[in-house]
Amino acid sequence: MNEFRLDGKVALVSGAARGLGAATAATLAAGGAKVVIGDLLDDAGKATAASLGDALYVHLDVTKEADWEAAIAAAVKRFGGLDIEVNNAGVETTSLLENCTLEDFNFTMNVNVTGTFLGVKHAIRAMKPGGIAGRGGSIVNISSVAGLKGSLALGAYCASKGGARLLTKAAAVECGRLNYGIRVNSVHPGMVNTEMGAKVLTDFLKLGLVPDVATAEAAFEAAHLLGRGRPQDIANGVFYLASDAAKWITGTELVVDGGFAVA
Ligand SMILES: NC(=O)c1ccc[n+]([C@@H]2O[C@H](COP(=O)([O-])OP(=O)(O)OC[C@H]3O[C@@H](n4cnc5c(N)ncnc54)[C@H](O)[C@@H]3O)[C@@H](O)[C@H]2O)c1
Repeated sequence: MNEFRLDGKVALVSGAARGLGAATAATLAAGGAKVVIGDLLDDAGKATAASLGDALYVHLDVTKEADWEAAIAAAVKRFGGLDIEVNNAGVETTSLLENCTLEDFNFTMNVNVTGTFLGVKHAIRAMKPGGIAGRGGSIVNISSVAGLKGSLALGAYCASKGGARLLTKAAAVECGRLNYGIRVNSVHPGMVNTEMGAKVLTDFLKLGLVPDVATAEAAFEAAHLLGRGRPQDIANGVFYLASDAAKWITGTELVVDGGFAVA
């Protein structure tokens, strides 16, 4: 089933120094893609790229338009194209809305929505016919279950992930209507144990919403019908949407959450 392989494709994954992005980059590379890792964390990003063999690390702050232009140009220069972009970089702030500072709200929106917008914008420019890559492609935006339903103390994060979800659909419509050969989809992870996943638990404790981290962990785990998920589970979903196996899929949302959103 060659449609489940990525040989000959070039992928750029933002926020891939660690966590879900690193797992995604490794999975895309294992499937045959040449991978470019973009992140703010230069040392960790270089180490992740080195662990993948023939992979490239670029410093990429997703909120900076010039960084996107340079990252995509570097991918095309090094590997000859851009077929897959995973807008994975994200931040999470935990606060009751009544206490959420404007600074925290804007920070969350800036990385998760503006950063995704800039990634989508420059991927479309590069991938569309006549662009510097020019052979179409697949854009996958990492939203969240928090982009599908409300959550206690995650209002800013929910707003940002809901924004990324609808941005995805608008981009899918544009790329489809304009016959660019570019598919755009979103992935909605449930709670997975990364630095961000662990931070949510300790933040709930700091806000006095749970008596201890173990209780918070048990509650989140119980909310997922299939128990605890792994970064690999999210990476597998991204891989599918990135691959030609999903070539008739655009504008959709793939919920990879062990049944959290439906329960
Ligand atoms: N872990 C979860 O439970 C979970 C659940 C749902 C959605 N998500 C989403 O998955 C994505 C990855 O999350 P994670 O759990 O791996 O988090 P993480 O904090 O472990 O990793 C996030 C990565 O993004 C990078 N990053 C942050 N701001 C950036 C910026 N401005 N420019 C470039 N890189 C930046 C960080 O340096 C880090 O390497 C995020 O979009 C997150 O919102 C995570």
